[in-house]
Amino acid sequence: MPCRIIWSSFVTPILVLVLIIIISCREYRTAASSSLGAAGGELVRHTCRRAARSNPSLNLDFCVASLEADPRSSSADLRGLGVIVTHLAEANATATQKRIVDLLAEYSSDTGERNRLEDCKDMYSDAFDDLKDAEAGFYSKRYRNANLFLGGALDNAVDCEDSWQESCFTPSFYQGHKYSSPLTTENYNMEQLCRIGLAITAFLSPHFS
Ligand SMILES: *[C@@H]1O[C@H](CO)[C@@H](O)[C@H](O)[C@H]1NC(C)=O
Repeated sequence: MPCRIIWSSFVTPILVLVLIIIISCREYRTAASSSLGAAGGELVRHTCRRAARSNPSLNLDFCVASLEADPRSSSADLRGLGVIVTHLAEANATATQKRIVDLLAEYSSDTGERNRLEDCKDMYSDAFDDLKDAEAGFYSKRYRNANLFLGGALDNAVDCEDSWQESCFTPSFYQGHKYSSPLTTENYNMEQLCRIGLAITAFLSPHFS
């Protein structure tokens, strides 16, 4: 039958060809996208694992989540990750200064709390300046500078948190008054972001780590 001949000799090979093209296109696309994603995500995960191994106070999940939150991290190199984490810390420092201003309005009557908040506000202002210098250090490949300034920003966050535990600034009237830091989350975030940046400076320049 002529109909049958046409079907088997033309249509079937064409259908097979079309199927092959569709399948190979789809496989090519999956392979391309997964290798791209793996390459990008891999440096973030690898860097965070290495950083957490080098410093037990560094939170691995926080590190991965923070870096992956910036879409640029999937195509960044190690230096780029340093810039990204420093930017994130700068945004955190600015947000924390704003939060302190709000808190100052709430704690209008307690001198002990106000003093600490004022101190923390200054510390976050210093931290922001340090982070800008650290960022410049990454850009100019002066990783020792980046390291020093990230260390400065880290100290400010730690000092802010510690100031709520101390009673040395407290006038005798307030002795015995228990303070709890209203900035624990902010200080923790800043501390972690700086530690990630510090680890990256050490990987970029292992001789001073
Ligand atoms: C501060 O850092 C944390 C942790 O990476 C992030 O989730 C948060 O969005 C940052 N805050 C700002 C204002 O960028």
